[in-house]
Amino acid sequence: MNIDKIKKEFPIFNDKVQNHDLVYLDSANSSQKPLVVVDRIYDFYTKEFSNVGRSVHYLAVAATNLYENTRTSVQKYINAKDKDEIVFTKGATEAINLVASTFGQKYLKEGDEVLVTELEHHSNYVPWHYLRKSKGVKIEFAEINEDGDISIDEIKKKITDKTKIIAITHLSNVTGAILPIKEIVDLAHSKGIPVLVDGCQSAPHIKLDMQDLDCDFYAISCHKMYGPTGLGVLYAKKKWLEDLPPYQGGGGMIGWVKKNDIGYGELPNKYEAGTMATAQVIAFNESISFLNKIGINNIENHENELLKYGEEILRKNNSVKLIGNPKNKGGVLSFTIDGIHPHDIATILDEDGVAIRAGHHCCQILHDKLGLPASARASLGVYNTKEDLDKLNYSINKCKKIFEL
Ligand code: ALA
Repeated sequence: MNIDKIKKEFPIFNDKVQNHDLVYLDSANSSQKPLVVVDRIYDFYTKEFSNVGRSVHYLAVAATNLYENTRTSVQKYINAKDKDEIVFTKGATEAINLVASTFGQKYLKEGDEVLVTELEHHSNYVPWHYLRKSKGVKIEFAEINEDGDISIDEIKKKITDKTKIIAITHLSNVTGAILPIKEIVDLAHSKGIPVLVDGCQSAPHIKLDMQDLDCDFYAISCHKMYGPTGLGVLYAKKKWLEDLPPYQGGGGMIGWVKKNDIGYGELPNKYEAGTMATAQVIAFNESISFLNKIGINNIENHENELLKYGEEILRKNNSVKLIGNPKNKGGVLSFTIDGIHPHDIATILDEDGVAIRAGHHCCQILHDKLGLPASARASLGVYNTKEDLDKLNYSINKCKKIFEL
C-alpha cells in the first residue's frame, strides 16, 4: 500500500493544523473524506440534482439510478444476499433505533430480556433502554473479562429462556476487541434468538460477509467509512423487513393511502420515509469504490501492522497504561496516564497537531466497569503511518514533562 499516495487523496492533509502537519488519530470517531467523495456531493448538487423515487423527468430518473447504484455497491461490499436488504438511515444510531423500536413493538413484552454487552457504545444501549422504560423489558449485560474482551462462554452464561434478541458490537471502540460474531450468531440461532450487530467500527476496517455471519441485523456508520455524515445503513434479513412494522411514516414508504387506511411500499422503501439523504447516498458510492480500490484485506493488514507498532511503543513508554488486551483486536489504542486527565493529554497533543479523542467515547458503562472517568484514545485509519504513532509518542512524552512525570 502506498500511504503517501492514499494520503494525497484527502485534502485535509494538504493544510497545516496549528502550523503542524495533521496527525489524525480519531478515525473511530469519524474518518476524513477523500476528495472524490466531496467532489461527488458538489457535482450532484450542481449538475445532477433531483429528488429520487418520485418524478419521472430525466434528472429524477438519473438520480434514482445513482441512489440505487449505491445500494447495490453496499450489498456487494457486505455480501448481502439481496439489495432490498439494504436500508439507508440517517446513521448507525437510527439503524439500531429502527430495530429496537420495530422489533420491540412487535415482539417484546414485560419481563423479556435483551442481551447486550458492557462494551456497547450508547447507540447500542440507549435504544434498548427505552424499551425498558416503555415495556418493562430487561437488559442483561455480558461482562468483559480482564482483557476487555467478551468470551463466547460469557454469552452462553447470559442467555436465558427470556432472551429475545442479542444486540452486540462487532469491534469495540474502546478496547478494540473483535467479537466472535459468527459463533455468537450460531449459538443464538440454535436457541431461536435473532442477533443485531453494531458494525460501526468494523465496517471500515475488516472484511464483512453478511451471508457468512448470518446475523439478522447489521448497523453501519457511513461517516466512519470515509463517507458523508448524516448517513447509515441497516442490513436486515429480508424476512425481518417483511415481518416488522415500518419505523416512520411519510412519503416514499407507502404503497397506497386512503382516508381510512394505508398500505406499505415495497422493500426497502417501506423503511425509507421522506426525502432521504440523497447526495450523501450517491457520494457514499465513491467511499465504497475508494475502499474497494485499496482492498479491505490490505487495509486490515496495514492497520494491524500499525496497531502492533503502536502497542509496542506505548508499552515501552512508562506510565502509559493501555486499556484492553483482547485476543483479536482492531485499530484502537485507548490509554490512561496516571496523574494526567485524558482531556489534558488530548489538549496538549492537539498543540502538536495530534488529534485524538478523550472522554468516555460514548461508553460510560464500560468506563464505569473499568473504574475510569475517561480515557484517551488514538484510533487508526487507512491514511495513518508509523511516523504518526511516533509523533503520538513524542507528544505524550512532552505531556509527561509538563506534568513532571
Ligand atoms: N463516535 C464514537 C467514537 O468515537 C462512538 O467511538
